[in-house]
Amino acid sequence: MKQSSTRMSASAAISICWGIKLVAILVLIVASHAALAAPAEKQVVLTGADRRAATSLNGDWASIVDPYFSGLYSFHHEEKTNGWFLNQKPKPGDSFPIEYDFAKAPKLKVPGDWNTQRDSLFYYEGPMWYERDFTYQPKQHTRTFLHVGAANYRSWFWVNGKKVCEHEGGYTAFNCDITSAVQSGANFVVAAVDNTRREDNVPTLETDWWNYGGLTREISLIELPEQFIDQYDLHLSRTEDSLIEGWVHVTDAQPGTKVEVEIPELAAKTSAIVAENGRAAIHFSVKGLERWSPETPKLYQVTLRSGSDSIEDQMGFRTVEVRGTQILLNGKPVFLRGIAIHAEAPYRTGRAYSDKDAETLLGWAKELGCNYVRLAHYPHDETMLRAADHMGLLVWSENPVYWALQFDNPKVFAKAEQQLDEEIGTLRNHASIILWSMANETPNTAARTQFIETLASHARELDSSRLITAALLVRADGHTKIVDDPLGKALDVIGVNEYIGWYEQHPETADVTDWRIDYQKPVIVSEFGGDAKAGLHGGENDRWTEEYQANIYRHQLGMLNRIQQLRGMSPWILMDFRSPNRPLQGIQDEFNRKGLISDQGQKKQAFYVLQKAYKEKTVGKPE
Ligand code: GCU
Repeated sequence: MKQSSTRMSASAAISICWGIKLVAILVLIVASHAALAAPAEKQVVLTGADRRAATSLNGDWASIVDPYFSGLYSFHHEEKTNGWFLNQKPKPGDSFPIEYDFAKAPKLKVPGDWNTQRDSLFYYEGPMWYERDFTYQPKQHTRTFLHVGAANYRSWFWVNGKKVCEHEGGYTAFNCDITSAVQSGANFVVAAVDNTRREDNVPTLETDWWNYGGLTREISLIELPEQFIDQYDLHLSRTEDSLIEGWVHVTDAQPGTKVEVEIPELAAKTSAIVAENGRAAIHFSVKGLERWSPETPKLYQVTLRSGSDSIEDQMGFRTVEVRGTQILLNGKPVFLRGIAIHAEAPYRTGRAYSDKDAETLLGWAKELGCNYVRLAHYPHDETMLRAADHMGLLVWSENPVYWALQFDNPKVFAKAEQQLDEEIGTLRNHASIILWSMANETPNTAARTQFIETLASHARELDSSRLITAALLVRADGHTKIVDDPLGKALDVIGVNEYIGWYEQHPETADVTDWRIDYQKPVIVSEFGGDAKAGLHGGENDRWTEEYQANIYRHQLGMLNRIQQLRGMSPWILMDFRSPNRPLQGIQDEFNRKGLISDQGQKKQAFYVLQKAYKEKTVGKPE
């Protein structure tokens, strides 16, 4: 018996040993995962980031093309510990070859896509490394953020070799907390940006625009107090005249933290205490407020304060709502005389990012007679929204849920929701924005409808002061266009894209087309048009000529006037833009030529057809 018990104790001992080993291994795995997954980095969404004092990091950055991403991943596909983010310098006697040197690498301008900066990068899709040095003096009780206006499509950032953040999404701003990584004196920042298209990206593999990669919008350093105002929302109440309501959020706020909001020009000031959720609820009546509108784009300096933090924003106050099939701006029906715009830079082409780009594009829209623009198909740079606020243009801003995403993939939903959070969180106080668009031309499937309905209700939770829309595909039964996409139930305003005269039959078909709209809601025709090469002339039935494009517009405008609940339109598109889908040699040359203006600023005949209709208000129900 003894023996068996001895055997028992031996085998018991062995199994206890294995048990301990197993527990140890489990602990190790959990710990290492925790270490990897631990958010070594923190990033925040900042409302009005462009109103903060900032140290610009724009300019020449060293760049290294890295198609196999060997600077970040070992051939086992693990993240390297000695990646190029260390910015090491090859030196004599190295025990291991350092096979990169930012100091000797060619430069890329930031902001700016890489495709239009170097012929060898025109079609490049893959990882790119950026590096620049900067000197800095950290301040006591101050947090330092690396502000990234946009990086298309995935990006990773290190400061002095320490990972500070990682981001996915090519068109929204984010801010990485680099306080623990930045040092006094000399510093360096390394970024990796990968514009590889993937099926589970947002947008997905195929788009009808160029996949401009890189640090495509401005980069800067922003210093904030340890407790600061990260987001705020101030808007005019729809029900009580001259009542400004909303909230101001303070990060890491101590209980009892006070927030103050002041509009000096109106001699108006209010204060509130931050609640448990970090938000101070704001509502105060103001006298003599001049409402913002396209006719009177009145902006006020609004100062927000909390503790040692303060921010001065420029804000307009207006209301927008739907009543039946009307869109009401400041309580009055409005017709949106618009045009669609891609963020393609006039003249130089490439990703638009500057004040000059915004002034040129929106200046053309004003010249066209617009009171409204559809900024497609992704959130544009904040310079566009600032310009729209100042120039008096209403805006449709769009989340890049474009065509056939993986609507049944929860990870893809999370990406779309994250980008919507960043878009609304950053841009929410621009009076010009009246519509948040959830999507463009998505297939009518149950998974798609569920996906976007959920996004729409999330958008309403984030911002109850604006309208929710999307550009829907429209089916046809003979010469009847039928708007019955189930997604329409989730929208305040129905956007519809149609191409009668270009992708559908002939320009004259519009004369015999009628519409069946299964929703008693306002409708915006969010796209129509056709291609024309500027300077190519012929008969009005000769495709690709200016005359043909103008003919489409003339027949379209007659049809649009017969849509009873039409409340706006944004023909496709203001300016020709680059797209890999458009090779037709001698005509398109990798540009979508539906612009009313060429990428070199040449106005086509259709520009004047639409301009006449807008100036004489012969299209759209009179306001
Ligand atoms: C689609 C799509 C646009 C595209 C346009 C076109 O409607 O929404 O992104 O550029 O048609 O085919 O020109």
